[in-house]
This record gives sequence, structure tokens and C-alpha cells, in this order.
Amino acid sequence: MRSVCFLSSSYCRAMMLLPSLFTLLILFSSLFIILLCIHMAVDDVASRTKTVVGHNLDPTPWHPFNKEEADAHPLLLHASRILQCSYLSCRFPTTAFPSSSDPAAADHHHHKRKKNINSSSSTCPSFFRSSIHRDLEPWSRSGITPAILAGAQRHASMRIVIMGGRRLYLDLYYACVQSRAMFTVWGLLQLLRRYPGKIPDVDILFDCMDRPTIHRSNYSDVEPPPPLFRYCTTRDHLDIPFPDWSFWGWSEINIKPWDEEFRTIKFGSQAVPWKTKDATAYWKGNPDVQSPIRTALLSCNDTEMWGAQIMRQDWKKESSSGFKNSGLSSQCNHRYKIYAEGYAWSVSLKYILACGSLALIIDPLYEDFFTRGLVPKQNYWPISASNLCESVKSAVDWGNQHPTQAERIGKRGQGLMEELDMDRVYDYMYHLLVEYAKLQVFKPALSPTAQEVCLESILCLANEKQRQLLESSLASSSFSPPCTI
Ligand SMILES: *[C@@H]1O[C@H](CO)[C@@H](O)[C@H](O)[C@H]1NC(C)=O
Ligand SMILES: *[C@@H]1O[C@H](CO)[C@@H](O)[C@H](O)[C@H]1NC(C)=O
Ligand SMILES: *[C@@H]1O[C@H](CO)[C@@H](O)[C@H](O)[C@H]1NC(C)=O
Repeated sequence: MRSVCFLSSSYCRAMMLLPSLFTLLILFSSLFIILLCIHMAVDDVASRTKTVVGHNLDPTPWHPFNKEEADAHPLLLHASRILQCSYLSCRFPTTAFPSSSDPAAADHHHHKRKKNINSSSSTCPSFFRSSIHRDLEPWSRSGITPAILAGAQRHASMRIVIMGGRRLYLDLYYACVQSRAMFTVWGLLQLLRRYPGKIPDVDILFDCMDRPTIHRSNYSDVEPPPPLFRYCTTRDHLDIPFPDWSFWGWSEINIKPWDEEFRTIKFGSQAVPWKTKDATAYWKGNPDVQSPIRTALLSCNDTEMWGAQIMRQDWKKESSSGFKNSGLSSQCNHRYKIYAEGYAWSVSLKYILACGSLALIIDPLYEDFFTRGLVPKQNYWPISASNLCESVKSAVDWGNQHPTQAERIGKRGQGLMEELDMDRVYDYMYHLLVEYAKLQVFKPALSPTAQEVCLESILCLANEKQRQLLESSLASSSFSPPCTI
């Protein structure tokens, strides 16, 4: 080498540079390979990371649905974003939320209803106690053991574990239709904000699809049922009803969080006084949901013969027109509003009752957590499913002959919904979880696959519209203890 270098200094320099060029080349290609590996690893981890939006989850086998069609915003988040939302958001939160005990946080809730600032605790609506007692009765002797709980897993779309009164962990098994999982988990996180440190450790299996699955007839004291939370139950089922996602908003059909939606509906209902409200019964909804009642209802569409007007709600069309015609508050101009169950219970009940019209409720099969507060002829009018049109007609005739009484019953229905503001919804959730926790005969522990979910991680996954609803339903810490049951 040295002798060669005497020959030509430039050749020599080139020869001396060669090894470092070679090193550089190796360095770059290894860097490239490392980056490629990281990229593949990211993709790989992301493709195994399950989210509340439904990433990497199949629809529930007991209630299949088309995920692509159901999701207003398809599951096209970048792999890195999935990882960021799932693994970094809760550890390194970038959004600063007003602390739930910060008084300014209370102002965040622009649409707060008149607040009961009595620090002495009030009494819960009487149906809270009886409902919770009835729903948890199947485990009053056996307690909830890990073995009993394990039986619920095959009916569940997710497992929710709350620890230390402040943290929530999820195991996701199946996707839920639309944004149900996101809003349901958000609701639980708000409960943790509302009563910081007061929610006991619980281990809950939850199904977010419509119909109850735990048949009463299959179980006894000797063989207690698996405890499974969902949005509704029936007299023949032992599923545990829990407030549905729409209390925090339903982004796909433009429904606002409950307090705000109630306020606008009540305001809208006052636009027309009872005397000048349309003297017929009104229903607007989707009849194509495998509901025999809704199908039967179509044949009552005759204001002359049955005193009823039955309208088809076309959500696809409403959605493309920006929901200009579907405002719930503009649907309170009739003296009578019909409630017909859909595929199971329907979230529409609370909006119908909120109108203050006389609610004509067709023999309900399903119960959600608050329908146990309904008393026939006290706060609604019962309609028989077997001679549907005649029954609607006779209710309308009765109401038009007794306008004062009809209006009073309608107002009591509205009153029931007014009493059930979000503060009370959280109180129901609180008491249900407290009573459930008392039945757990084990200390909840995390499974190896459990993942923490927090406000930031949900907002990270939410689309623009969902984020608006989520943020407007942010709860603040309560000044008073929960109502007493
Ligand atoms: C507070 O409590 C008192 C007595 O318990 C009651 O008279 C009053 O109406 C309550 N105030 C509010 C705002 O609810
Ligand atoms: C439970 O009971 C229902 C109706 O009573 C029945 O259709 C179903 O097959 C039963 N399921 C099991 C697992 O026994
Ligand atoms: C019910 O009747 C009204 C008036 O005749 C009509 O506009 C409406 O489309 C009918 N509803 C359904 C579901 O067919």
C-alpha cells in the first residue's frame, strides 16, 4: 500500500477513503434494514392491537354486522397512530384536561341543567333501588366468583376492569356496531371523573349488542347465571341493564349528549301549546329492523281511521343532508307520540318521553335501566300489541276527550326524564357498580392482555365528530355524594 502511495497521491487518497466509504455503505444499509424492521414491527404490533374503534376485531358472532358499512369512518388509521393511541396516550398524555375537581371544569359543561348544589345528598328515584336489587339478585347467595364470571366471557364483547377508583382497563374480544364501545367506555371514564377514587374495583363482562342472551330458564340457585352487562334485559333474561352509549352521544345519527338533547327537546316541545298540538299520534323511525311491532305499525298509518301518522326515518338520506330534518325537538308537535321497540329496546324512548306529549308505549318486551321507572297511566299510556291500531285509536280518542289528564300524564313522563339527568345516570352507574362489587368474592386483577384506556386514548382514536361529542360530555367531579338508594 505504502509503495503504491508514492506513485500517485490522488490514487492513494482514494484508496484510503475506500474503507470509510465501505463502512458508510454498510452503516446506511443496516440503518435501512433496522428502519424496515421497525416499520414491520410497528405494522405487526398494530395489526394485533385491538381498539375501541374496532381495529383487529371481528363483529360479534351472535350478532353479525357489516363493519365497513356500519362505520361512518372506516378503520384506516395509520399503524403508528394506532400504537400511539393505544400505548402512549395514557402514559404521556398531551391534552390537558381540566382536573375533574377544578371548578372551571364545571363550566366546561355549557349545557348543564339547573344544578342541585345542595351538598346534603338527595334520594335517588325509587326505581334505582328496586331495579339494582332485582338485577343483582341472582348472585345474592352464591356471590360472583371467578368461575361464575368466566362463564360470561363467551357472551361478551369486552371485559372492563376498574382499579384504584381511577384507572380503567379493557380486554376487547369483538367489535361493537358503530361507536358503541367508544362511547360506553367513555361513559365509564366520566363516572371515574365524577366520583374520583370512589368507584370500587370491579371486573365486568359487557356485551354491546342489542338482544339479551342470558335466559332465566337455564339457571337456578344451584347454577347461578354468568353476570353480563348490556343495554337491556327482559323478564325472561338475567342480563344486567346499563345506560346505553347514546347518553354520551350517538355520532352516526347526530344525537347529542343526553343533558343537551333533553334541554333542546324540552325547549322545542314548548313551541306549541297542548291545545294547538296535532291531535293525532306520531311515530317516526326505521321500520326495517326485524321488528314485528314496527311492521304492524305501518298499517295504522291513517289519521282519519286510526288517528295515527307513521313516518319512515331514512337515516342514510338524513345523514347526507346533514340531519336538517331529523331534529328531535321538532318532533314534539303532536299530542301523542308512539314508542315501538326495534330489534330490541330502542334508545328513542327517552327522547319520546322528553317531548312531554302523551307517550303511547306499545307492550314493551325489553327493559333498559330506567324503564322500570315507568308507571302505566301515570307517566305513559300502555298500548296493546295484539290489536295495535284499535288500541292507538282508543288512546287518541280518550286523550282528546280528556285533554287535561292526557297533558298531565305527558308532563309526568317528561318529568321522569328531567329527573334522570346525567347526574342521576352517573348515580345509577355508581350504585350498580358498588352493589356489584360487594358480590365479587375475589379481588379483581388484570389479565396479561388488559390495556389501559383513558380520556386521551379515546380522543386519540376518535374522528372529528366523535371528538366533539366526547368533549361536550366531559364530566366534572360532583360537589355532593351520590343520591342515596
Ligand atoms: C336543597 O335542600 C332543601 C332542603 O332539603 C330544599 O328545600 C331545597 O329546595 C334544595 N335546593 C335545591 C336547589 O335543590
Ligand atoms: C337456554 O334457554 C333457552 C330458552 O329457554 C334455550 O333456547 C337455549 O337453548 C338454552 N341455552 C342453553 C345453553 O341451555
Ligand atoms: C303515512 O302516510 C303519510 C300520508 O299519507 C305518508 O306521507 C307517509 O309516507 C306514510 N308513511 C309510510 C311509512 O308509508
